[in-house]
Amino acid sequence: MGLFNEETQRSGDAATRALSVTTVEIDFVEKVYQGIASVYDYTYGPTLHPGRLEAIEKMAVRPGTHVLEVGVGTGINLSLYPRNCRVTGIDLSSKMLEKAQARIDEKGLHHCDLAAMDATQLKFADNSFDVVYAPYVISVVPEPVKVAREMYRVCRPGGRVIILNHFKSANPIVGRIERAISPMTVHIGFTADLDLPAFLKQADLNPVSIEKVNIPKMWSLITVVKD
Ligand SMILES: C[S@@+](CC[C@H](N)C(=O)[O-])C[C@H]1O[C@@H](n2cnc3c(N)ncnc32)[C@H](O)[C@@H]1O
Repeated sequence: MGLFNEETQRSGDAATRALSVTTVEIDFVEKVYQGIASVYDYTYGPTLHPGRLEAIEKMAVRPGTHVLEVGVGTGINLSLYPRNCRVTGIDLSSKMLEKAQARIDEKGLHHCDLAAMDATQLKFADNSFDVVYAPYVISVVPEPVKVAREMYRVCRPGGRVIILNHFKSANPIVGRIERAISPMTVHIGFTADLDLPAFLKQADLNPVSIEKVNIPKMWSLITVVKD
């Protein structure tokens, strides 16, 4: 992509500009995760875990709360939820879900259940969940805005939509590097240059908080309360 397009993307209107220099198809994403399911917990486990722990702490799940985890993957978060809540996890990849089910069985996580589902077309009624959480998913999916809208739709009024994700840095040098590597990082499962202000604008999300998490603090923990 030439400089003109890069500059246009950076300075264009947040309501309409492209969220990333890359585009991916859903079949491509599914294939990538089918391929990395067996090594996911080693490659994306420890490095991203501080953010997962902060998200769960911030979530402060109360007894009886029903959480939807979008892109549950290998179920790496499932043992972090208190057992007195209910967790439904959905994912596109059957191999990731197999790992998650093995984890549920092994650890006796009877408060968790799983379903194969595309996050752009959630098979749940409006207002079904108290918390709808997407850890490290929004920069993975081909249509992040559509996923965020679905998350909002199935969250109950007064409930929370929580997004944990890496977005393009506001630092112009780092942001430029992230744009440059994004066409490569999609092959290992994510776009590196997702534009946070444009994402929020286009998804019509008004967060009550955005905290920086992980080490280095390059990931965002976004909390939205549904009206
Ligand atoms: C980076 S992993 C995150 C896994 C887990 N949430 C974590 O904390 O590590 C992203 C997950 O999103 C899933 N995914 C990608 N596109 C999806 C879609 N359209 N619908 C549902 N899940 C999707 C992938 O299969 C993968 O398991």
